[in-house]
Parts: sequence; C-alpha cells; structure tokens
Amino acid sequence: MCGIIGVTGTDEPIMDVLMTGLSGLEYRGYDSAGIAVANGALDIHKREGKLSELEGVVSERSPEGVAGIGHTRWSTHGPPSDTNAHPHTDSTGTIAVVHNGIIENYQSLRATLEANGHTFESETDTEVIPHLIESAIDDGADRETAFRQAIHRLEGSYAVAAVFSGHETIYAARNESPLVLGIGADSYYLASDVPAFIEFTDRVVYLEDGQFARLSPAGVVVTDDQGSIVETAVERIEWDPEDAGKSGYDHYMLKEIHEQPTAIRKCLRERVSEMDGSITASELANLEHTGPVQFVACGTSYHAALYGARLLRERGTYAQCFLASEYTETMVPINEEALVVGVTQSGETADTMSALRAANRAGATTLALTNVVGSSAARECDHVLYIRAGPEIGVAATKTFVSQQIALAMLSRILATSQSPNSTFLRRLRELSDQVQSILDESNARAVAEAYVDADAYFFIGRGYNAPVALEGALKMKEISYKHAEGFAAGELKHGPLALVTENTPVFALITGDENAVKTIGNVKEVEARSAPVVAITDSPSDVDAYASHVLEVPSAGPRLSPILANVQLQLVSYWVANQLGRSIDKPRNLAKSVTVQ
Ligand code: F6R
Repeated sequence: MCGIIGVTGTDEPIMDVLMTGLSGLEYRGYDSAGIAVANGALDIHKREGKLSELEGVVSERSPEGVAGIGHTRWSTHGPPSDTNAHPHTDSTGTIAVVHNGIIENYQSLRATLEANGHTFESETDTEVIPHLIESAIDDGADRETAFRQAIHRLEGSYAVAAVFSGHETIYAARNESPLVLGIGADSYYLASDVPAFIEFTDRVVYLEDGQFARLSPAGVVVTDDQGSIVETAVERIEWDPEDAGKSGYDHYMLKEIHEQPTAIRKCLRERVSEMDGSITASELANLEHTGPVQFVACGTSYHAALYGARLLRERGTYAQCFLASEYTETMVPINEEALVVGVTQSGETADTMSALRAANRAGATTLALTNVVGSSAARECDHVLYIRAGPEIGVAATKTFVSQQIALAMLSRILATSQSPNSTFLRRLRELSDQVQSILDESNARAVAEAYVDADAYFFIGRGYNAPVALEGALKMKEISYKHAEGFAAGELKHGPLALVTENTPVFALITGDENAVKTIGNVKEVEARSAPVVAITDSPSDVDAYASHVLEVPSAGPRLSPILANVQLQLVSYWVANQLGRSIDKPRNLAKSVTVQ
C-alpha cells in the first residue's frame, strides 16, 4: 500500500504536479501524506489525515522547485501521525525518502545505525533508508552510489524514491512493490501507479524488480542491480484522464457501479465471435492447457474466483480455488500440468503475487487475470487476460468484480475442450450489459437501504453461483457501511448462523432461476419463521412475494449469469446504506485499494 510520486524537470507549479499525483494515488492509502521539494534546502511538509490536510498546509506556503517527491500513507510501522508520515530524512535533513512496502530487516539496520550515532524520529521502517544513504555518503560515496548501497542493504519489498537538497535528480528503485516511470516532453515522473501522472503524460516505462532509475531534467536512465544500463520499452497508456474523474457522481463508487454496462462491453469486445459463436482472447492465443486449474485470489477477487472455478468445473475442467494468503507451492499438483490463475484487479496484491511466485517456482503455468496493464502479475505470469474495466478509484471493488466475472466466464469457455457454437450462454453474455443498465435505471435499492439502515446486522445467502455473490454482498456492506454483515452459502444458515437471526437482521436472499431456487426459498422460510425481514433478489418475484418483505428484481439471464445481475442490486443497497450513514465511501477507514503487504 502507500502511494509514491516523484517529478523532475516540470515547468508546471511543482505543488500542482505533486498534489495531483497524490490525489491520483490516495486510493492506495490515506492516513497521512507528505511532500519534499528539492529547492536550495529541502522543503518538506507532512500531515496526518487525508490529503486535504496536507493541501491546507502547502496552499499557504506553495514550495517552488522543479524536482520533488510525495507520499500518501497506509500505515504499517507506527500509527498515522505527522512524524510517521513520509518523506523521511537523514540526520542532516538533506536527503528525503518516500517508500512503499516493508523493510523486513529494518530493526537490525536501525540498531546498527543508532550504534553509529544516528538518531531516529519516527517509528517507521522507512526512516533507515535516508540514514543508510547518509552513512554511505559519509564513507565517501557519491549520491547515486550511496543510494544503491543503501538499497542493497534492504530486505523486503520496496518502491523507493530519494531526493537531495539542491539537486534536481531523483533516485528510485523497486523490489516487489510497483513503480512506473512517466516520460513527458521535458519532464519525468515516477509513481506507484499511472493515474498519478496520466494528466501530464501517457508514455510509461514499467520498472522491473531489482532495477534502479535516475530521473533528471535531462531524461531517465534505468540500470540493473549491478549498475549496467537497461534498454527499456516506452509504452503508451490508453486511459483517458477523464475516466479517472467523478463525472458528476457524488462518489467514485457510484460512478463505477454505473460504468458496469460499459465495462462488460469492453471486456467482451472482439472476443466473442458473432459468426461462429466462439470465444477467443488474443492474449491467450498461445495458451494450450488441459490440466487442472487453481485460482488464487483475495477479497472480492476471491469471490470472483469462486464463481469462475464453478463455471470451469461445470464445463469439465477440474478447478480449485485458494485464498492467496493460504497458498503455498506444496499445493501445486506435482504429477499433472497445473494452470494457476491469479485473479487480481490491481495485479499488485502481495498475497496473490506471493502465491503466483510460488506457482512459478513449482513449475506450473501461470495466468494473471488483471485490470492493470504492466502490473507485477501481468509481467510475472506466463499468460495474462486483461479484464479491461478501466481505472477503478473507489477502494471497494465494483466494476472490476463484474469484469472479472465476465472474463472468467470467457476463460471457462476458452479452456473447455469443445465450445458448443451459438449457445444460449453467448447470447446471454451479450445481453448482460443492457440488463445491468436496466437495473441501474430502475432499482429500488435506495428505498430498501432506507428501510434497513438501522439494522443490527445484515445477512446474505445464496446457493450455487449465488453463493460467492452472497459473500461479496456482505463484504461490500461491511467495507463501506462499517456494519456487521455476513454472507453464507444458504444451506449453511441452519448449521449455526441462524442463531444470529432476529427481527432486526434483514436477510438478503439471492434467488435466481435455477434448480437451487426452491431450496433457497426453504431457507428463506426458516428465517422468516424467526421474524427476520427478507429481501429477495430474484428474477422471479411471484415465487417469493409471499415470503419477502422487499423484492429487488433482476432480469432473467439464466442460472450462470443472473447472479452477476443480482450483485449489482447488492452493490446499490450497500452504497445507499453507507451513504445514509455518512460514511467515507470511496476511502473506507483502515482500508486501501492496493494491498502490497502480506
Ligand atoms: C474489496 C476489495 C478487496 C480486493 C482485494 C484483492 O472491495 O477491493 O477485497 O478485492 O484486496 O485486490 P486485487 O484484486 O487488486 O488483488
């Protein structure tokens, strides 16, 4: 987590560039923020709290210069505070460093530095870095060598950038934390993610693990671990900066929920053949796989993976699903050729990356199903399937979840030994985008949210393809409303959770047209008998009218795809509950969008 930004050579006011960058990264962490501008002396400002706190400070002082770095923090070592906010400096205050990741050996480094007379101000792991640089300079190294020597002493994950007072060069390095360079006409950028500088340039270079970069007004030089210059490819990003704005919606989350029809269309574009009804993805042209499939993922992406694994199994591919944080290389089948699929919208989640790296080491074929071009997952896996959702800024995943489901539906067909032409499934996939739009246009989710905003807790139940959607419905609710919410496979309710059901715990029951609906209705009757209000999300209202206090209707899209539609209703309910409670919807407390620590 945490977001870093750096710029040099800019003729824009430097604070505008740094603050724009930080606001594009705030989704990565928002408990404190800071900047350092390399003027004659270093001009450093840091504040606990959201970026607006820092904005208040710098707007009064408006530091000037052409080179600077900035950071938005999601705390790991030491609570949010002005002191623990980055940038951190050395003893002389002439070296400033921002860092994303975790320095695992910082305690021993700090002890050694303290024994040599260095004093520390913060509780962070990061603060050792400027002191290590200072120490190397004291030993006679030049700035760049000192930076390299400091980095070589770090163990753990890091994207680091350093500036020195009175100099316009920024030094940067990465290992297991994302870092991308932006190449402008005469200005150069570095950041944890592209939205930080997309307003200034769409030309990027993705740094690899173990690489270093030197950015100055004269240009960018990338070197390897040993210092040899590396030729890098400049890629062009296709995102429109407009995509990253709120477009009149009160929150990014609401905007992104409304972008789902477009996200579905983009995901399917040029991948579904009208002619013969086949599904292909050009990225996967070289993927020939018939063995078992393992999915690794976290959070919402794990729910998408559960959905995908079920689809694959139904199409004859043996598929399992693992929480990435629980996956080790001993789980990769050794006798058969396994395909391990990392489902990760950011492509940077540390747990998922660790699972994919374990799979790579064990010799499995790996595939990243991701939203972010050039992300670590995309670069380190043997294959990549892009979900094409466009930038998602709201911390709670919405449109990327639907895009993951669509991409997984496609993958299930691509991996199936034979594709049945002109299937109903393909027609329904193509209709899905309009069906989501009709839900967005007609949903009564806001009224349902108003009816239950004061509930003690919320339960979500579903079977089959609806079971992962029940888990996702609960995750979304707890994430943004901060209220207790649990999702269950509907059959599990009677095995324990039913004890929690009262007249003040609405139960959201996913009942869409398949053979499971009857059984789920049975579970609905069980909760109704305990006086719990039931909200049915269904494509067949007449079947549930007798039992449901409220109905959220979805168009019928068949057993496999209707759950995607039902999820949209649940997103809207969570949004409106959180909205009425006045929660920080786009940046829920304690969370960050890209979780780059294990
Ligand atoms: C919830 C949410 C998280 C992410 C999880 C994995 O709304 O966004 O649960 O799904 O942190 O992130 P990615 O998909 O980037 O690997």
